[in-house]
Amino acid sequence: MNNLTNLESGIDPDKSKNIIKLALDLTQKNAIDILFKYLKDNQIYPELLINNVGISHYGNFVGCKTSEFQSIIDLNIVSFTNLTHKYLNYMNGHKAAILNVASTYAFRSAENQAVYAASKSYIYSLSRTLRKELAKSGIRISVFCPGKINTDFDEHSGKAAIINSNRKGISAEFAAKYAIDAMNDGKFLIIPGILRRTLRFLYQIFPTTF
Ligand SMILES: NC(=O)c1ccc[n+]([C@@H]2O[C@H](COP(=O)([O-])OP(=O)(O)OC[C@H]3O[C@@H](n4cnc5c(N)ncnc54)[C@H](OP(=O)(O)O)[C@@H]3O)[C@@H](O)[C@H]2O)c1
Repeated sequence: MNNLTNLESGIDPDKSKNIIKLALDLTQKNAIDILFKYLKDNQIYPELLINNVGISHYGNFVGCKTSEFQSIIDLNIVSFTNLTHKYLNYMNGHKAAILNVASTYAFRSAENQAVYAASKSYIYSLSRTLRKELAKSGIRISVFCPGKINTDFDEHSGKAAIINSNRKGISAEFAAKYAIDAMNDGKFLIIPGILRRTLRFLYQIFPTTF
C-alpha cells in the first residue's frame, strides 16, 4: 500500500481524486476474486487492464530452489492468466483493452533468468492468440516488450547483488508513456528503441542463436 500511496502522491491532485487503491498479493488464492467482487459491487468497468506485475529470480536454473522458480510461475503465468481471463469475462459487452508487459526476453534466451524469460515468452504467446481471438470483439490487445528499465527490478530479483551492472535503461516514466501512446496508436507489439527493434528482427531470423 505504501508504494501505491507514493505513486499517487506524484499525480496531479485533480487527476488523482478518482483513484481507488487496493493492495493485493495476486498470488494469494482469493486475491483476484476479491478484486472483481470489489469492481462488481461498485459497478466499475475498467476500460484498460495493464498486466504489469512481474518478478524474476537471478541465478542458474539447476541451482535454484523450487520455491524460487515456483513464485515466478505463480505470478507471471498463473495469476496473469487468471486475471486476464476474469477481466475478459467480466467486461463482456463493455469497452475493454489489455496491455501486457512482457520483455525482450520473450524472444530470446536469458542466462540466469531461465524461468523469467520463459514466463515472458508465455505472456507474448498468449497475447498473440488473444489478439486473433478477440479481433472481432473490438477489444484491443497490446504487448510491451522493453529492454532494461531503470527500476528496482534487479534489486528485487537478486541480480544487483551479484552483478554490478552500470548498463542504463530507459526511465519508468518514459517506458509507461511510450507503451500507452503506442497502444493508443493501435500497435500490437511495442518495443521501445531502434536497437531493440533491430535485435528483435535478428532474433526472428536466427531464433536458435540467441
Ligand atoms: N525493469 C526492467 O528492466 C524490465 C525490463 C523488461 C520488462 N520488465 C517488466 O516490467 C514489469 C514491471 O517491473 P518493474 O521493472 O517495475 O519491477 P519492480 O520494480 O520489481 O516492480 C514489480 C511490481 O510487481 C508488483 N508485484 C510483485 N509481486 C506481486 C504480487 N505477488 N502481487 C501483486 N503485485 C506484485 C510489485 O508491487 P509492490 O510495489 O507492491 O511490491 C511492483 O509493483 C514486470 O512485468 C517486469 O517483468 C521490467
